Amino acid sequence: MTMLRSVILGCGSALPAQVLTNQELAAKVDTTDEWIVQRTGIRQRHIAADGELTSDLAIQAAKAALANAHVDPQTIDLIVLGTSTPDNTFPATAVTVQAGLGITRGAAFDLQAVCSGFVYALSITDGLLRTGTYTRALVIGAETFSRILDWKDRTTCVLFGDGAGAVVVEAQQQPGEKTDRGILTTHLRSDGRHKSKLYVDGGPSSTMTVGHLRMEGRAVFKHAVAMITDVIEDAFRATGYTASDIDWFVPHQANKRIIDDSAHKLGIAPEKVVITVDQHGNTSAASIPLALNAAVRDGRIKKGDLVLLEAMGGGFTWGSALIRW
Ligand code: UT7
Repeated sequence: MTMLRSVILGCGSALPAQVLTNQELAAKVDTTDEWIVQRTGIRQRHIAADGELTSDLAIQAAKAALANAHVDPQTIDLIVLGTSTPDNTFPATAVTVQAGLGITRGAAFDLQAVCSGFVYALSITDGLLRTGTYTRALVIGAETFSRILDWKDRTTCVLFGDGAGAVVVEAQQQPGEKTDRGILTTHLRSDGRHKSKLYVDGGPSSTMTVGHLRMEGRAVFKHAVAMITDVIEDAFRATGYTASDIDWFVPHQANKRIIDDSAHKLGIAPEKVVITVDQHGNTSAASIPLALNAAVRDGRIKKGDLVLLEAMGGGFTWGSALIRW
């Protein structure tokens, strides 16, 4: 029996022009290229210019995704933007994106799940498309984490970068079989007991300031692999697929050691893992769509491929999505 599936029609991304290398950072804080590469795999990150906002990056990424999908922006009736660094406390950055694209119909809203923002946004969008409430969506992850970093704290400022990525998703009738295209399953989790391990020490209600990112890196690391593999096993259980069926693993790009350990634990071959953390650093909600776009543009991810996404971040929040591209 046929069923509605959320099929990815195209993707795009945007990065600020300014690149900050590890060597340049080492001139500003007490760190070394060697330490950063060894502990994280990061070699450089992009940093937004003065006046370059999360919405600017999101609009650029959305336009690239619409062009890649050959879709007219006027046919979009839903925009879900994953971000923890909105332009302003409100309105949602998604409505700035909506206006920037000249769209006046449908709904646009932000979703805040920190580094899991894109997987959360994709999952919520999938639900809304499959109920028939909306027909064509833009799902975006966009961040300017450089604005919430404490540039004197070497334990955090070396890890993050700015950027945006977007996908166009459409509700389509599929045969209702294992070979269906589209989002096959998503799994979202959170556990607020861990909220003080990765947080921002400010906000409109608590301090009336924006605040800076604080992280107990070792504690986050300790939980990451178990949480990631757990939620991916949920995706395998729900679909009947196994690690050997996966064509591409596109994880959240926080730390190459976490990615490698997770892939190893799951039995996913290293050559199937898409890595961009070396070039982008951790761009939070933007990291997965940035990596997806890189692998689509260079010809790795092709129509019909089975693509596995996962993310884990502040909250803690974590989640997975399994997609037939
Ligand atoms: O996207 C959201 C999820 N976030 C993450 O997944 C991040 C998870 N955590 C991590 O990726 C890692 O824990 C870090 C990369 C943040 C840190 O790596 P680590 O291997 O856990 O190092 P550590 O925190 O245990 O620190 C080791 C040493 C410490 O010195 P002592 O106490 O051993 O003397 C740190 O002070 O490295 C020192 N250190 C640095 N040294 C040079 C910490 N940051 C730096 C630095 N440069 N930037």
